[in-house]
Formats: sequence, C-alpha cells, structure tokens
Amino acid sequence: MNQNTPYCLPAGMSVETFLAEYWQKKPLLIKGGLPALVGMFKPEDVLGLAVEDGVSARLISQDDANPEQWSLKSSPLSEDDIDQTPKLWTILVQNLEQWSPELGEMWSHFDFIPKWQQDDIMVSVAPQGGSVGAHYDEYDVFLAQGYGRRRWMLGKMCDGDTPFVPNQPIRLLDDMGEIIFDEILEAGDVLYVPPGLSHHGIAQDDCLTFSFGFRRPNLVQIIDEIADVATNHSQLFRVLTLSQAAQKDAFELSSQSIQAMKSALLELLNSPAGDELFGSAVAELVSKRQYELVAFDDELSDNELKARLNDGECLLLNPACRFVRVADDWYINGECVCLADDERQLLLALIGGAVITSDDIANHLPTLCQWLNDNWLILV
Ligand code: SIN
Ligand code: CO
Repeated sequence: MNQNTPYCLPAGMSVETFLAEYWQKKPLLIKGGLPALVGMFKPEDVLGLAVEDGVSARLISQDDANPEQWSLKSSPLSEDDIDQTPKLWTILVQNLEQWSPELGEMWSHFDFIPKWQQDDIMVSVAPQGGSVGAHYDEYDVFLAQGYGRRRWMLGKMCDGDTPFVPNQPIRLLDDMGEIIFDEILEAGDVLYVPPGLSHHGIAQDDCLTFSFGFRRPNLVQIIDEIADVATNHSQLFRVLTLSQAAQKDAFELSSQSIQAMKSALLELLNSPAGDELFGSAVAELVSKRQYELVAFDDELSDNELKARLNDGECLLLNPACRFVRVADDWYINGECVCLADDERQLLLALIGGAVITSDDIANHLPTLCQWLNDNWLILV
C-alpha cells in the first residue's frame, strides 16, 4: 500500500523485464527478496493460529511406516492433531492477511502485479523433512522463506493432462521430469513459480514458507457473474424477437435459431450497455473475497471510535479487503460502492498508506466509523 515499498524483484531487474520474461513463463529466484519477512513469525505462532476458530488450515502428513501414503485433515484442527502427527507433516494456513495486517502489508512488495490478481497469503509450517510432495499449481506463486530453510526442486511444466498419483488425498506427481532448479532457500529468499511448473519443497529444519498466491478468473466464473449482474437490468428480461424460417420438423431447434440467439447475446455484449455489464461483472468478480471477512471488534459508534482514536489507536486500510478501481468507480469485496468525492479522496489517501489518527478525523468521523464497521478499515 505504501508507494515507496521496494518491489520483490532482483536488484537491477525492471518490472518490464520480469513481466516480459518471467511472469507466467519461467521461475525466478530472488535472493533476499523479502528481508522484512524474516523473524516476523515463528513456527509456534503459526501452530497457535492453526487451531483457532475460523481459521482455514490443513494438516498434511506422511505415514511413518510408508511415507508414500499421505493423509489430509482440514480445519478445525485441534491441539491433539498437532501433538499426534507422524514424523513428517506440514500444516498449511490460508488467508493470513486476515489474521496479520502486518503480513498483509507485505503484498505491496508485489504491486508490480495489479492488486485484483493478488489472492491470499498461505503459510506452511513443517519440521525437517516435511513437505506437501511434488505437485503443480494452476496459479502464479511467490514462495517466500520466512523462517528456517527449505530445499526447492523445480521440474517439468504440467497441464490438465498430467496424471496425479492415484488414491492419495492430495494432488501429487510421481514424475517431475528433468529437475531444472535445486536450491536451498534461506529466510528472506523468494522463489517465483509460474502456473503449471512442477515443484517440490522439503523443509531442511523447522521452517515457515509463505506463499503469495495470485489468481485470475476463468470464463465460467465470468459467465456466471454476467448472469448475476444481468438480473439487475430489467430490459434484459425482454423476450427475444426472432424471425422464423419454415421448418419441416417441429421438434427441431435449428442451428439458425441458436445462431440468432447467440447473435442477440453478442450484439448486447458488443454494445455500450454490454461494455458496462461486462465491466461491472468482471470488477465484482475479481473484487470478491475467497474467505469470509472476520470482524475482530463489535461495531463501534462514532463516539466510541473517537474515544479509541483519542486514546492513541489509529485507523488503516484492512489488507484482507479487496479494493478494485475501474475509472472512478470502486468495487470493494464484490460490490460496487457509491462514494462521494470527499469519500473517494479519503479512500485514496488510505490506499496510499495513510494512517488516520485523532488529528485527521475532522468531519470524516461517520464515514470512517461506517468503513470500520464494514471491516474495510482496522483499528490498531
Ligand atoms: C509449501 O509451502 O510447503 C507448499 C507451497 C506450495 O508448494 O505451493
Ligand atoms: Co505449490
């Protein structure tokens, strides 16, 4: 959020070079790419979080007698689950920006990719030898070592036809092809892995690896969202006018009729109204959160907020929210929000990294209180 945050790219590499040569194409090791991550968390912090209510966590383990046999348990996880693991295990916790605004701020190191593609931060905690096996992901990910060391091996590119090991609860590859990268990442190092590239990370000691994951919608999601947005446009409920050619078989739905309906749809999409419909659908879709937003505080009244700010707390943007701007319109957590000019300025300031203290509230108090109660802001 802070515009002065250094990008997580190798020294001397421009954003243009990264986007042209690496993004979605090739892996890239960024030694010391995220120094601020070092020491931010210890393994025990993550284990404590993994058993909390509302946290999305998974325990992946390998059988002691037969490490080729994997197990998966999804949250809720208990202290017992953690105490009774076999020797080789990994606990993954998703959506960390929800629980740690400080970590959420780290997204700004990746602002060379638009925010709407930034998905969530996951962490893995594992003892020596722990792993989630060889696999590939469909999305881009920056794997950032936060604590301890992890050996990463990268192999072949995979796609939907690449087979997974049968009868296992997680997606595992038994063949990574030729290993093109094999290095141990130290705390602070970052490895960019493009979609489809097989990878296998093995903890060298007690280790935390943070995955900054990206996302893009697929066409089914876009079609689905268009349908959703379209229900607000009453004129689209009008029955289509279709010319009818003489037909021998009354049972037939002719290709001509299908084409005529498709043309009507394409005509709509290609019109100014269609641009608006499509634009809103895509903006709503990409600004949706994958995980429910958790409120940490009861709702506050304007006066209660004022008192908290007077006591020295301050307001900042909640890094777990999704803010997407299309021209002058803002989409927040899946909804288009109407903002007055002064509210837009205030939001822009917060997005630019502004921290609101009791000196800055002036006549914005009701707006800020509303935004806090909507969880767009956090009080720290
Ligand atoms: C891990 O951190 O162990 C797994 C992350 C990944 O492979 O995507
Ligand atoms: Co992966």
